[in-house]
Amino acid sequence: MPFISKLFFGASLAYLAFGTAMGLLMAIRRGKWTLRLMPSHAHMNLLGWASGFLFALAYMIVPGPLYSQSLPYYHFVLWNAGLAGMALMWALSRFPKSPVPPGLVAPFGALAIISLWLFMINMALTVF
Ligand code: HEM
Repeated sequence: MPFISKLFFGASLAYLAFGTAMGLLMAIRRGKWTLRLMPSHAHMNLLGWASGFLFALAYMIVPGPLYSQSLPYYHFVLWNAGLAGMALMWALSRFPKSPVPPGLVAPFGALAIISLWLFMINMALTVF
């Protein structure tokens, strides 16, 4: 397995652990405050676990050498920074009188989107 796939696979497992722990908390302690974790939970599971696992697979099964060998590492760093930042800002900003404004989710979202563009561009130039 290529090293970059190992990185994505390891991180996706960590997001699965965090994401499902939040889900369990929301399920057990049903109530107003736990539901504030929902966007963090949904994104950790979908962008973290599900997408991260697919990135690991994609870098494994792509035919031939990648168009760029370094872009996947930028993809990995920005994906983590963007996702962890979004999840944290969502969780912190959704409590009453929180000093964290909800707008702080956006810059981290931008990092996550840039990371996805790096993935798309590298994959497209490799495969087509
Ligand atoms: C142990 C596993 C999990 C538990 C216990 C759990 C639990 C929950 C709970 C309690 C909610 C709030 C639902 C509500 O009251 O409206 C929720 C929402 C959500 N969960 Fe999970 N979840 C789990 C795993 C996952 C996984 C693996 C994914 C995706 C891959 C996922 C995606 C979502 C999404 C997208 C929402 C938001 C749904 C909406 O907007 O209505 N969850 N989950």
